[in-house]
Amino acid sequence: MCGIAGYIGNRNAPEILFDMLKRLEYRGYDSAGISIVTQNGISILKDKGMVDEVRKKTKPHKIRAKIGIAHTRWATHGEPSLGNSHPHVDCTGKFSVTHNGIIENYKDLRSELIGMGHTFKSETDTEVIPHLIAEFYSNSNNFEDAFVLAMKKLKGSFAIAAISHADTDRIIIARKDSPLIVGIGDGENFIASDTPAILPETREIIILNDFDYAIVSKDSVTVKDIRTGEELKNEIQTVEWDIKQAEKEGFDHFMLKEIYEEPDAVRNAIKGSGGIKNIAKKLKKFNRIYFVACGTASYAGLVGKYVLERFGIHSEMVVGSEFRYSTINTIDECCAIIAVSQSGETADTIASVKAAKEKGAYIVSVVNAVGSSLTRLSNDNVYIYAGPEIAVASTKAYIGQVVCLTLLGIFMAENQQKIDSDYAAELLHDLNRIPDMISEVLGREEEIRNLTKKISKSSVFFYIGRRLNYPTALEGALKLKEISYLHAEAYPAGELKHGPLAILEKGVSVIAICPNDDLLEKMESNIEEAKARNASVLMVSEDGDLKVPLCDPLLSPILYIVPLHLLAYYISVAKGIDPDKPRNLAKSVTVE
Ligand code: M6R
Repeated sequence: MCGIAGYIGNRNAPEILFDMLKRLEYRGYDSAGISIVTQNGISILKDKGMVDEVRKKTKPHKIRAKIGIAHTRWATHGEPSLGNSHPHVDCTGKFSVTHNGIIENYKDLRSELIGMGHTFKSETDTEVIPHLIAEFYSNSNNFEDAFVLAMKKLKGSFAIAAISHADTDRIIIARKDSPLIVGIGDGENFIASDTPAILPETREIIILNDFDYAIVSKDSVTVKDIRTGEELKNEIQTVEWDIKQAEKEGFDHFMLKEIYEEPDAVRNAIKGSGGIKNIAKKLKKFNRIYFVACGTASYAGLVGKYVLERFGIHSEMVVGSEFRYSTINTIDECCAIIAVSQSGETADTIASVKAAKEKGAYIVSVVNAVGSSLTRLSNDNVYIYAGPEIAVASTKAYIGQVVCLTLLGIFMAENQQKIDSDYAAELLHDLNRIPDMISEVLGREEEIRNLTKKISKSSVFFYIGRRLNYPTALEGALKLKEISYLHAEAYPAGELKHGPLAILEKGVSVIAICPNDDLLEKMESNIEEAKARNASVLMVSEDGDLKVPLCDPLLSPILYIVPLHLLAYYISVAKGIDPDKPRNLAKSVTVE
């Protein structure tokens, strides 16, 4: 949700900053901009629109500067417009700031500053920050002191980068509840909200923690605590991802590339699953287990719940935005929380975990982004190792999460003697065959693309499934909504007759997820009910319209989602939408 970037070194900052923004664009894309320091002070190039459009308009290659900060925006306060786009400056234009997060007390701060004679140009919460810095600077003439005093006034969440007209040798940055890293170069340093922005330049990073601020010059990074001023020793870490993984590599869209990486997502999740057995053992002593997540990750969590139920183990799945305000009242040290998140930065998931931790719960996170905020809050982590996921619509990360949660369920069941080790071994053997089965489904891409024609005229879609594949229905429907803007709903198939059947008629499409299990006949009856109301039905099954190879029903959610990801992708493309950048959405939801 908004991407921020910064550069200081000997190369041309404006061009490097726009390159970095392009790689952060999945975090927001309604406006973009940079500010740089030259001999003439601070200059700002910004506008409404996507990074490439703003770059074309503002011509950064025509300007020379060695220091600058940048921003790609997902609007929270104030509509997407030139005035509201970042970076922002104070009244005198001497301090410039980019910000990701929400300043909750901005209205009070703004009134206070207006009372002191400051004038504001935008509707954003962010604009108070450069004004605060300028106000404190007028007393001390010290950029660092003024920056820290300004940070102390802010309530809410922030990742901030600031430059001063008088300091061409440092960028000052700070973090609370929004991600921020420094990429360490040779005689140059990079600032970014997320790793893909710096991958072509360096894989050595320093991660800022909450309440850290850092003074970044071209040769050094000094991290300190905002509250105490104490110097901190944040270690340099090496990122495992490489730049190729963050590029399209010939695919039309990141989403399609990431769908094609789904077989590897399964292999990598299995390969990296070494620690899961031990976590499964630890979970035995907790009598209340909660999966907590948002969006697609919550559907992976729901698969986790159904897997455990299959083995007679109770758990609940609660979305982060509800858990933090309601379920939290029931949490104590007898509870275990399994948080699921691709980014590890989702605000509602993190807030839930923090609150549960305070109440003594044991926390396990299933995460893709190594070193992300969630991983640092957890007692144990399971990494899915899916590699960078750039498309806003999550695909391969969902598959990796489902694999890890299925493995966790199998190991818990074995540990609690709900199943014997022969059956566990059989399931693991079958799981290893899933990547080839996914490749088989991907091999039917053309067929799937043609099928989109059958349903492309529909404007209402129902996805139905039962038990373990009710979450598959939810995930299929969400994917279609996100990237095609069509109305799609998911129902447990047995619920159709309790209301939704009333709107089934010609022009409505029903996607029925039908693995070959003991409920297949019930699914077939639901299909007949839909057909009797003239709805178009697409059956996803071993020999249905969207064909999927036969696998153990427990593993079917990993396989059955693949054609639904492709279906959503092709409907989006057929409608002329860019599936990588759906309107109103951003990849990492770091605000509440
Ligand atoms: O990074 P996270 O997995 O925590 O993100 C959670 C959701 O915001 C995310 O899955 C969202 O629903 C995706 N856009 C779905 O495709």
